[in-house]
Amino acid sequence: MNTTNQIKIKSPQEIKILREAGQILASVIKELTCSLKIGMSTAQIDAVTEKLIKKNKVKPAFKGYRGYPACACVSVNDEVVHGIPSDRQVKEGDIVSIDVGIIYKDYYSDTAVTIGMGSIDPDLEKLLKVTETALHRGIAQAKAGNHLTDISHAIQEYVEEQNYSVVREFVGHGIGRKLHEAPEIPNFGPAKGGPILQEGMVFAIEPMVNIGTWKTKIENDGWTVVTADGKYSAHFEHSIVITKKKPEILTK
Ligand code: MF3
Ligand code: CO
Ligand code: CO
Repeated sequence: MNTTNQIKIKSPQEIKILREAGQILASVIKELTCSLKIGMSTAQIDAVTEKLIKKNKVKPAFKGYRGYPACACVSVNDEVVHGIPSDRQVKEGDIVSIDVGIIYKDYYSDTAVTIGMGSIDPDLEKLLKVTETALHRGIAQAKAGNHLTDISHAIQEYVEEQNYSVVREFVGHGIGRKLHEAPEIPNFGPAKGGPILQEGMVFAIEPMVNIGTWKTKIENDGWTVVTADGKYSAHFEHSIVITKKKPEILTK
């Protein structure tokens, strides 16, 4: 493993492990989303996450991270990210963002999805679709020779065209032997900035998209991030690796 501008370039052996980690995490998220039911509490969602992590013989990345108390972040409606699981029950029409990280053979993987519970308002369907598409627009820019902020710019441009806003205070990141490695990957800003991307860089790209203002605040629990105006927010995240060809999504 060598480094450029503190961004670690992963070796083929490391990428192999990160790929296995991503596949395990993708299967955890898939089973988890299939088991979601109206009326479950966010703590029950976390309990299912923990069970699936154990079943796959990997470790939770978030529990204990800076004192975070759970395996999953579960953020409902106007909650943006870092929702702490609680006895709050999800109801029909809610949108629920679930962010999960694991450690496998000392390497991290990180992914998030937002799911509509039962039938949701068409405006919210659109929010989910736009946020997931924004993630894929960003991923498409993650190729060798591009600048880092080509990712950021592609995400912001698309989201704002759709008349939504991107959160500024939380960003994507490099990932590997640590959950959060260099570089920070903002979801906004001008293109052609920051370091040149190289084969072997591994990133977690994660747009958070709001219907109203991009501004957020943190609840009294010290973790849960909510929109400043109370309007709803969605979050999608994948861990990816930059290759010679198209970016490879590790958590698909
Ligand atoms: N999963 C978040 C991210 O995508 C980080 C969560 S840290 C935790 O970067 F402590 F809240 F779990
Ligand atoms: Co995450
Ligand atoms: Co992340």
